Amino acid sequence: MRRGSHRALAVAVLVAAFVHAARGVLHAHAMLVSSEPAAESVLAASPTRVRLVFSEEIEPSLAHIDVVASDGRVDRLHVAGDPRDVDAVIGAVHPLSPGGYRIVWHVVSADGHPVGGSFVFWVGARAGSPPPDVTDDERTLNTAWGPTVAAAPLLPALLRGVAIGVTMALAGVLFFMAFAASEPPSAAGDRLVRPLAVAAPLLLALHALAWCVNAAPEHRLTTDSIASAIGSTVGRIELWRLGLAFLALWAVWLVRRPWLALLFAAGALALSGATGHSAAITPLVAMPARALHLLAASAWIGGLLWLLACRALAIERFAREAVRVSGVALWASLIVAASGIAMAAVFLTSPWDLVHSAYGALVIAKVLGLLALMAFGGYHRFRVMPALARENATPSRMVMTVRRELATMVVVILLGGLLAYVPPARSPASSPVAASSSE
Ligand code: HEM
Repeated sequence: MRRGSHRALAVAVLVAAFVHAARGVLHAHAMLVSSEPAAESVLAASPTRVRLVFSEEIEPSLAHIDVVASDGRVDRLHVAGDPRDVDAVIGAVHPLSPGGYRIVWHVVSADGHPVGGSFVFWVGARAGSPPPDVTDDERTLNTAWGPTVAAAPLLPALLRGVAIGVTMALAGVLFFMAFAASEPPSAAGDRLVRPLAVAAPLLLALHALAWCVNAAPEHRLTTDSIASAIGSTVGRIELWRLGLAFLALWAVWLVRRPWLALLFAAGALALSGATGHSAAITPLVAMPARALHLLAASAWIGGLLWLLACRALAIERFAREAVRVSGVALWASLIVAASGIAMAAVFLTSPWDLVHSAYGALVIAKVLGLLALMAFGGYHRFRVMPALARENATPSRMVMTVRRELATMVVVILLGGLLAYVPPARSPASSPVAASSSE
């Protein structure tokens, strides 16, 4: 295939991915807008159905509704989409005897995270106390799969951090290979980029699977829950991201075109801008900010890996690459800081959330991580790199501190993956049903 057609293919695939992804994204967080029976209502007779209306389209097969009686008996309703309203789900109710009942609901919203809540109503008269609300742990159990940290499912969050981290490393190294100042240390670059190109789609696929399990009711993977997860907006973006990562693998291993692989890997990262909280909260700001955040961070991590790949080169050549990497890292750190602060500003409702919420604490940890990384950068630029010009200089000292900087960056990236699953502190949903979002 000629270079021209490779370029045309890459552009066509990327445009299709973004148009398809953006089509279903510009919605807010799913919030419960109204319900039948209404919250706190007293009905003369048993309802025949429960109908929940949300602020946006809901994936019916990923939703579930429980009717909890005062004696704790739970009736799990068979939930279906309302044929007349894609934002609503319906569940038929067996006749209920007089008393208080609690509706406990769980849906998956635009950011791919399960959201849940509950409210009470009475049949006959408002007598006795309503069934107790599900505890936060029960609700977390109900919405987050496996062990949790700050109400976030640990395994999907870790997989997300590792998958995005490896895709960032791939794009970053390809960036330096594609735009190397002079003939690139191709063998060293290849040794680095080829395993990354295999690992990226594998890890993205594992994360997509973990996300499916987390989003599925009771966290069971059935053909239904997989089909509905893949059919949802988030599922579609996960598939496009995976497809682009496989195309990068093809471009690295089969057509051996680093710049083409770079286009696909960078496309997968930019598409990540349309996932997580960015897809649900102020997307017009958060989506480009996240894409910039990941692309800049990938140039940064790519530069550090590139320097390690260059350590066998002649010291003059290594020193030249160090200057290039340091220049890119400086700009990348500024873009990462600005885009990170922009996202934090739209995801948190007040600066106090920084000190009063788990999300805020993680953001502070990331800011400290960035400051540590910038300190490494300063140390390299003002202390280590000048020494490379001295007689008998070797790259060993720089290689050692670059490894430490990389280890710090891996921690910050994993914090980023966790942050994407931790519910940002937000003012309670304004719906009359006082829905408490668990995730
Ligand atoms: C001022 C410092 C930083 C701030 C304020 C910040 C803030 C953020 C925020 C708010 C998110 C979005 C999380 C969500 O979805 O709710 C995020 C994600 C992320 N950040 Fe940062 N960040 C900073 C530095 C860094 C650095 C230095 C790196 C790596 C070099 C990094 C890598 C990531 C990654 C990989 C994600 C996850 C993206 C995803 O899962 O889609 N961040 N960051």
